[in-house]
Amino acid sequence: MTQLTLTRPDDWHLHLRDGAALAAVLAHTAARFARAIVMPNLVPPVTTTAAAADYRARIVAALPPGARFEPLMTLYLTDHTTAAEIGRAKASGIVHGCKLYPAGATTHSQAGVTDLRHLDTTLERMAELGLPLQVHGEVTSPDVDIFDREARFIDTVLAPLAARMPRLRIVFEHITTRAAAEFVRDAREGIAATITPQHLLLNRNALFAGGIRPHLYCLPVLKREPDRRALLEAAISGNPRYFLGTDSAPHARHAKETACGCAGVYSAHAALELYAEAFEAAGALPRLEAFAAHFGADFYGLPRNTGTLTLEKADWTVPADYPFGDATIVPWRAGETLGWRLARQGVE
Ligand code: NCD
Ligand code: ZN
Ligand code: ZN
Repeated sequence: MTQLTLTRPDDWHLHLRDGAALAAVLAHTAARFARAIVMPNLVPPVTTTAAAADYRARIVAALPPGARFEPLMTLYLTDHTTAAEIGRAKASGIVHGCKLYPAGATTHSQAGVTDLRHLDTTLERMAELGLPLQVHGEVTSPDVDIFDREARFIDTVLAPLAARMPRLRIVFEHITTRAAAEFVRDAREGIAATITPQHLLLNRNALFAGGIRPHLYCLPVLKREPDRRALLEAAISGNPRYFLGTDSAPHARHAKETACGCAGVYSAHAALELYAEAFEAAGALPRLEAFAAHFGADFYGLPRNTGTLTLEKADWTVPADYPFGDATIVPWRAGETLGWRLARQGVE
């Protein structure tokens, strides 16, 4: 049987939620990844180091027995995040970045930043302390076409920010367009991007294949085929500025299958398997390890993992749903067959 053994990978963009939802999804990630950057968009959001420490303790308490998984915490920036809070975050050793949600851009972003210029001293402190800024990169104006919001964000927010704060380390999260891939490739030092499995494997046609597909609706929304191809080229390029971030974003079935459904694709149940599918289709399986296990750690200044993870070429069927507290969650590819299967994690 064909096997693929990698250094244990990390997920550099993940939503774990809290409470019963956290308990329902965490094992999927911990079975595959050694560490994950945990997004702070809870309700209420994780805006302080103290709240991040409490959330981290709840994640650790929810781990399955024997799991070895380290949550890397983030703070949710608001218009009122102070430079002093950045100092506490860095000193804590548990916070590895601060997340910029433009107010109104995505799930639970209502408390996000309304104008980045309110935050100059806060961002300057982040630059000084080497704490990365993670960015949901879309403008929020309803006047801007939803397929153009990422590109518009680059021109009006991200490029000016990168120039104004030349030492700020920035992760452009879940990039979805050729414009974003090219911006990151050509940007100054200290700028990187995460890429999700759905944006590597699907274009926007998937949202409407045979009918509307709410479980494939995420933000930023799937884009055109030339964008998907550009992202795939970036992911397999061996350029260390691009690394794995699933953006696995669980929502209960009833919150997706409704008149106004939530944004987010759930992929944690098969995250690495899906990336393997994308890399294999591109003839680039040997490039998966660095994308999944090396480049993100290097960018964040963390040691690479020492254990291994093995996938095997074997068919398995994704369940129709998984329990999710009192509800269920519909995973990406529910009821379909995947060609890569998780085999084991190796000891260090
Ligand atoms: C994310 C979520 O559900 O928290 N949803 C999504 O569609 N990606 C939020 C985000 O990452 O923008
Ligand atoms: Zn986002
Ligand atoms: Zn996300």
